[in-house]
Amino acid sequence: MKILVVGGGGREHALAWKIRQSPRVTAVYVAPGNAGTDHEPGISNVSILADDFDGLMGFAEQAKIDLTIIGPEGPLVNGIVDRFQQAGLKCFGPSQKASQLEGSKTFTKEFLSRHAIATAAYKSFTALSPALEYLRSVGLPAVIKADGLAAGKGVIIADTLQQGEKAITDMLFKNRFGQAGNRVVIEEFLKGEEASIICMVDGKHILAMASSQDHKAAFNGDTGPNTGGMGAYSPAPIVDEKIHAAIMQQILQPTVAGLAAEDIPYTGFLYVGVMIGNDGVAKVLEYNCRLGDPETQPIMMRLKSDLVALCLAALDGKLDQQIATWDARSALGVVIAANGYPNAHDNGQIIKGLESAYGDGVDEGVKIFHAGTKLENGKVIAVGGRVLCATALGNEIEDAQRRAYALAKSVHWEGCWYRDDIGHRAIKSAIKH
Ligand code: AMP
Ligand code: GLY
Repeated sequence: MKILVVGGGGREHALAWKIRQSPRVTAVYVAPGNAGTDHEPGISNVSILADDFDGLMGFAEQAKIDLTIIGPEGPLVNGIVDRFQQAGLKCFGPSQKASQLEGSKTFTKEFLSRHAIATAAYKSFTALSPALEYLRSVGLPAVIKADGLAAGKGVIIADTLQQGEKAITDMLFKNRFGQAGNRVVIEEFLKGEEASIICMVDGKHILAMASSQDHKAAFNGDTGPNTGGMGAYSPAPIVDEKIHAAIMQQILQPTVAGLAAEDIPYTGFLYVGVMIGNDGVAKVLEYNCRLGDPETQPIMMRLKSDLVALCLAALDGKLDQQIATWDARSALGVVIAANGYPNAHDNGQIIKGLESAYGDGVDEGVKIFHAGTKLENGKVIAVGGRVLCATALGNEIEDAQRRAYALAKSVHWEGCWYRDDIGHRAIKSAIKH
């Protein structure tokens, strides 16, 4: 089979790398990919951007692609799966309608309320003064969210009225989030422990992936501004059996059944982020209509099953006949970012040390996944905010952490940086047990 992966981040590198290991796969293409996918044996980059649907469909037809797998949310929310399917091309991911779970927070809040799935109390606004008035009437902290896609940066937790007013004004009046901020959701602040589960869905059945946890905040100790994610690990000890069962029964099953009942069947990866209160009740913080980045990197390191077989079974509505098997070891990934990220950042520097990190003699349990990189005159150049993800397996989470950091230290470019404490919560919880 020939597989096309759409996207060019660390998630897509990990997906393509895993897909290449499937015995039924003869070729993998990544559009547009990065220097990491370009370097992989049996994987080729195609220079078509993820939002160029006509270009991607043309390539899929001409190269006789058997299955296309979509990585990022942008093309999903804009209907890429519908377009492929209308053209008779096999494509794994949710439809445009189903992708609204990530594409519109208002859609999601209304859906949750229709199906009595627990979530924070909220109101949604398009006009400035009623939004400000509502903010003043709710307690602090208040959570202010841009309705649309904002690359993980559209959520502001306001501890003061002034911060809340600024966030709302930035979105509704100053257009700082573009169209995504033309509508805002103001919601109640939830206390508790955060957890997330990523699963595969076939319209009806749900197959959970191994648990994982990312670190969204930029700096050590989970401080600083939110980013797309500075590192992740799997499994996540917080998702114990009880919490897992609660998320499946109280949230994921009613979500998938509710969508099917509304004639919006969901097929694809589905990511739910929840807050678990002291009472053990899980409430939805958000859905993503795709795999997480960087969660995918450690998850793919641990997946032993054939990912392509799972995607094909999902497209046939037969996920209930599948199981996913996992490496018993832990995996941990450290994101190496460019100077300045998550704000305006440098790019164009040459990355050094990659030869030793991805030479053939390197241990099977370590892997550098690329994100914002490209190949220029034979050199790998940093071109994004999140540039690499140094990922490693280890018998215990501490081993995985130690090995991932040793790997991260082996590469360098001017101004590169990473958090020093990825996995700290999991390690603390391992010590406690
Ligand atoms: P989201 O993109 O909606 O998951 O929000 C990003 C982060 O903001 C989450 O991972 C939480 O840490 C935090 N957050 C979002 N909504 C709430 C809420 N209602 N209460 C507390 N924290 C929240
Ligand atoms: N790492 C969080 C996300 O992919 O949304």
